[in-house]
Amino acid sequence: MTKISPSILAADFSKLGEDVASVENAGADMLHIDIMDGMFVPNISFGMPIISSIRPKSKMFFDVHLMICEPIRYISEFKKSGADLITVHVEACEDPEKTLKAIRELGLKSGISIKPGTPVSDIRELLPLCDLVLVMSVEPGFGGQKFMPIALDKIKELDTLRKELSLSYEIEVDGGINEETAKLCVDAGVDILVAGSSVFRSDDRKAAIDILRK
Ligand code: DX5
Ligand code: ZN
Repeated sequence: MTKISPSILAADFSKLGEDVASVENAGADMLHIDIMDGMFVPNISFGMPIISSIRPKSKMFFDVHLMICEPIRYISEFKKSGADLITVHVEACEDPEKTLKAIRELGLKSGISIKPGTPVSDIRELLPLCDLVLVMSVEPGFGGQKFMPIALDKIKELDTLRKELSLSYEIEVDGGINEETAKLCVDAGVDILVAGSSVFRSDDRKAAIDILRK
């Protein structure tokens, strides 16, 4: 079944604990945590203290999406703060192979992400080192943007490749996911849907998650 990973970027930070609990109680499979450094992307979100403060309050799997330059510098800090999986951008790493190996050596799941303009061929050699591939369906940096259909071809390509290469990475999509675009992504072969606005801005978060999962 398709997994749903609500992005706390769209939560109300003045009551973050309550918002996290609300999506956990609504059946979210994991929690998507967006970290932005104002360099790799033109926005700044938050850092490790936010993750550490919600970690004791939640049993969810923490899916940490690092939109930062040279993320290898900080992966052990993100592990300490409570990450279960760390996804890095291939465009942000000087040595993506070393970075993915270092994440796994810490005992965490590893993910690689590609921006809308980056082809799957750029990460082809890295796939055996990945537990997850995150296809961006918007330019990273902000919530609430419109889904870019170019993501669908990449999801299909990654689904075909994992069969051809006998790999078992999960495919995740992030940006502009709503009832309509979720269906397109699931049909293309996606396993995990990240959803910020469509879950946190809904009055009924359980219904919003159930709709995406269908
Ligand atoms: C964008 C982030 C996304 C964002 C998704 O850079 O990586 O996770 O929060 O937000 P929505 O679902 O509102 O497009
Ligand atoms: Zn994200």
